[in-house]
Amino acid sequence: MIGLIFGPPGSGKGTQASRVEREFGMSHLSTGEILRSEVAHGSAVGKEAARIMAAGDLVSDDLIDRIVESRLSRIDPTSNVLLDGFPRTTEQAKALDAMLEPRTVDFVVSLDVPEALLIDRLLHRAAVEGRADDTREAIMERMREYHSRTASVLDHYREQVVSVLEVDGVGDVDAVFDRVRQAIKKLAASKPRARGI
Ligand code: AP5
Repeated sequence: MIGLIFGPPGSGKGTQASRVEREFGMSHLSTGEILRSEVAHGSAVGKEAARIMAAGDLVSDDLIDRIVESRLSRIDPTSNVLLDGFPRTTEQAKALDAMLEPRTVDFVVSLDVPEALLIDRLLHRAAVEGRADDTREAIMERMREYHSRTASVLDHYREQVVSVLEVDGVGDVDAVFDRVRQAIKKLAASKPRARGI
């Protein structure tokens, strides 16, 4: 099974993905986490990405595609994978289709949270953790990028008749996870090849 966790900045993708990973035995691959680790290690990729990320912009499709392709090639091709933060543009979605062939994306969990709450969550994290891209300016740029380039990725999957599981992302983490779990279980019960998860 290949699943995507999708949503705007601060919608809880990373938080929920860790739980989905444990509950359904999926390998969690977060492009944001991979990039932050590259930045922390001062690698060539990290040096290329650091300034772009701190400004709240998207790094290039080409760089991200290469990172994901390399990570996927190290994962057992029969295993269940949950992608978090990728794809973020229609071009990345098309590149993922080519990487996965003959497999396909089986489901997308799409977290819905009002923008005012997203900003509150990220500003709160800024005060507690100080992530480089949680400044007010970078948060607003991340929101702009999401609306202009990422939100339409859902249309790519709807056109392919991939199950898009819309989940209300408001409420405490456990309540949101309950909804995510129910949505995935319902899908698994309805799809023969998803029954393994
Ligand atoms: P990425 O790390 O993916 O950041 P993001 O999409 O901006 O999302 P966040 O990590 O801020 O939020 P989230 O939705 O994961 O929520 P989280 O669980 O953390 O990407 C960072 C950057 O890397 C991008 O801006 C871009 O530059 C680059 N990048 C990454 N992928 C790329 C790609 N494919 N192409 C190009 N560039 C790419 O939660 C957020 C906060 O809210 C946390 O503090 C959490 O504790 C809290 N929280 C979560 N759930 C709840 C809840 N239910 N109630 C209250 N608080 C909650």
